[in-house]
Amino acid sequence: MAGQPDFFPLGVATGVAHCNRTKERAELGRNMLDVRHTWLWGRRRMGKTSLVEQVVEDLHRAGREVAATTIDLLVAHDARDFEAQLLEAVERLGVLIAPKGRSAARRLGEAFGALKPEFSLGALGLSMKLSPPGRAGQGVVEALLGLDRAAGLHDRRAVLVLDEFQQLGAINGGASLEGALRHAVERLVNVTCLFAGSQRHLLAPMFEQEDRPLFRLCRKLTLGRIAAADYRDFLRQASDRRWGDVVADRVIDRILAVTARHPYYVNALCSRLWNGSTPPEVEAVDAAWERIAMEDKPVAAARVVGLAASQRALLRAIAKAPDGVQHPAAHQFLAPIRLATSTGNRAKEVLEREDLIRRENDDRWRLVDPVLAWYLRRL
Ligand SMILES: Nc1ncnc2c1ncn2[C@@H]1O[C@H](COP(=O)(O)OP(=O)(O)OP(=O)(O)O)[C@@H](O)[C@H]1O
Ligand SMILES: [Mg+2]
Repeated sequence: MAGQPDFFPLGVATGVAHCNRTKERAELGRNMLDVRHTWLWGRRRMGKTSLVEQVVEDLHRAGREVAATTIDLLVAHDARDFEAQLLEAVERLGVLIAPKGRSAARRLGEAFGALKPEFSLGALGLSMKLSPPGRAGQGVVEALLGLDRAAGLHDRRAVLVLDEFQQLGAINGGASLEGALRHAVERLVNVTCLFAGSQRHLLAPMFEQEDRPLFRLCRKLTLGRIAAADYRDFLRQASDRRWGDVVADRVIDRILAVTARHPYYVNALCSRLWNGSTPPEVEAVDAAWERIAMEDKPVAAARVVGLAASQRALLRAIAKAPDGVQHPAAHQFLAPIRLATSTGNRAKEVLEREDLIRRENDDRWRLVDPVLAWYLRRL
């Protein structure tokens, strides 16, 4: 394996490890350059971070460099904390967009005047420290508008990614921060904001409900699963590069079936299979999948334990259906598990909201998480 590129990282996938997403890459790249703020929804580990990093790389290769950084709201616990995170991100971006040289600090000083920037020169180059004003929220506005001015002065584009953005709604003072963000974001002409998140039922209302400050401020981009055809091409190429031989179609089909084309699990499985000295057979796929599923079983079990009995029963019945279920809340489906239609309906709504089940393109409902499906099928 020495010298082989890593086609199946468990972390961020860019370059040779990045499968397809051609349409999403082109669209997000245009949005970043044209300052079209975007909200990006994708289930956990579906590839949001990989997409964003790949797009930044695509733009770099095309000679349209953008300065990008991410803040993760999963850890923000109140308004001050959010503001501090945002200020740090702006400090990083400010330095990134400024050209090297003596005049950088002076020009950044002009752009960020209201936040009293202080500069220091260390081993890693220039760094900037901003002081937040008295009121949380005001700092958010000043920092973003300052960054926009700085980017304008240097004719640069900056991209700020706010990951797990739905968490803003859950923190103390979140509503007024949403208002502050709107005030700043709608004035930006050189800085693009990308609001990403995994919990659709919390994220979507922030952008789609009229009474929310960020209503109609952004384009929407949804990150679904990678198409089977794209994965097939990708796996064939990766096998050719690894063994000079193409893995059999039945093996590829098995990989895509057991992982439900969940990118994280495709990578977890294939990184093991690609360690072998010859292309794998179906039995090797099953054995490796079994080991991965066993390792992740405790997480799946914990999710099941947290559900109400009716939700658990419905989830298990859907998992056990060999090819998904067209009407999981219909009497015929619910009668064998002894659930009334009203209870079944409510359970289905919860399972959908919690992203445990989804309706696929063939109109059939299946479980989202392949390990959870594997676990429930054996119970
Ligand atoms: N386009 C892709 N091609 C191949 N593998 C991918 C692709 N996108 C993501 N992956 C793989 O899927 C997994 C999850 O990717 P990533 O961390 O980008 O997702 P995420 O949606 O940001 O996750 P989280 O919800 O944890 O933030 C990783 O193993 C990554 O290598
Ligand atoms: Mg991520």
